[in-house]
Amino acid sequence: MSVTPVLIPTPTAGSTLTHPVTLTNVTLEYPDGGGTVKALDSVSLQVPAGRMVSLVGPSGSGKSSLLAVAATLVRPSSGDVVIDGTNTAGLKDKELTALRREKVGIIFQQPNLLASLTAVEQLIIGHHLRGKPLKAARSRAAELLDLVGLAASAAKRPHQLSGGQRQRVNIARALMGSPKVLLVDEPTAALDHTRSASIVGLLRRVTDEFQVATVMVTHDTEFVPLTDAVAVMRDGGLTAPVLPGGFLT
Ligand SMILES: Nc1ncnc2c1ncn2[C@@H]1O[C@H](COP(=O)(O)OP(=O)(O)OP(=O)(O)O)[C@@H](O)[C@H]1O
Ligand SMILES: [Mg+2]
Repeated sequence: MSVTPVLIPTPTAGSTLTHPVTLTNVTLEYPDGGGTVKALDSVSLQVPAGRMVSLVGPSGSGKSSLLAVAATLVRPSSGDVVIDGTNTAGLKDKELTALRREKVGIIFQQPNLLASLTAVEQLIIGHHLRGKPLKAARSRAAELLDLVGLAASAAKRPHQLSGGQRQRVNIARALMGSPKVLLVDEPTAALDHTRSASIVGLLRRVTDEFQVATVMVTHDTEFVPLTDAVAVMRDGGLTAPVLPGGFLT
């Protein structure tokens, strides 16, 4: 795979650049028969607000594992995961869930929408179940559906939407909680070229507009130039750390 690294500009002294997600020396081991398999091997990654990193690498190299740890869905075996200034190591499961809901947007390849709900309801339901006011959720959902180009499809159910439109609903849903970090796993794998390009373009726009720190796992290296940096994984490790000063390969 041939990819061109793009540097994240170095922040100048006194810069107010924040880093909503920082992983430091993160190792993740899964039990495997009698032994263990190292899915992540001392990974360090820091993404500033408003920046988008492509995460590439062969199958099984640990890309989804990195996202799962950054999303606080899986606790690392060692190392630190800091989300918007909070070190997650010291948090209890409940606190971790609350932090994830508030700060992290997660977008997987398959949108996983509920078949019986309309597009707008897909966005609202999570908030409603968590006791958030329905009126505010409705107006946020309408704004986000407009942003992703689906204002006219708010009342449609998943079977009435194209694959690309379903992925747009998925993206809008991930933004409902106003996250600081967006973690995206192969968002275009199920889409044709034109739809893939527009989904990556949308993620770029969302990153800029909401100043989120975005990590996108992708096999489509042609979209890498739309992002600010590329991180390459091999055997559970990044081939070079991605830090605000960019990285070397
Ligand atoms: N829940 C799990 N239990 C045990 N081993 C796991 C688990 N999840 C992942 N692994 C192992 O960790 C390694 C990294 O897997 P991961 O899914 O992160 O790779 P990936 O880079 O996302 O691959 P792909 O491109 O195929 O999605 C692999 O060796 C995999 O078999
Ligand atoms: Mg994966």
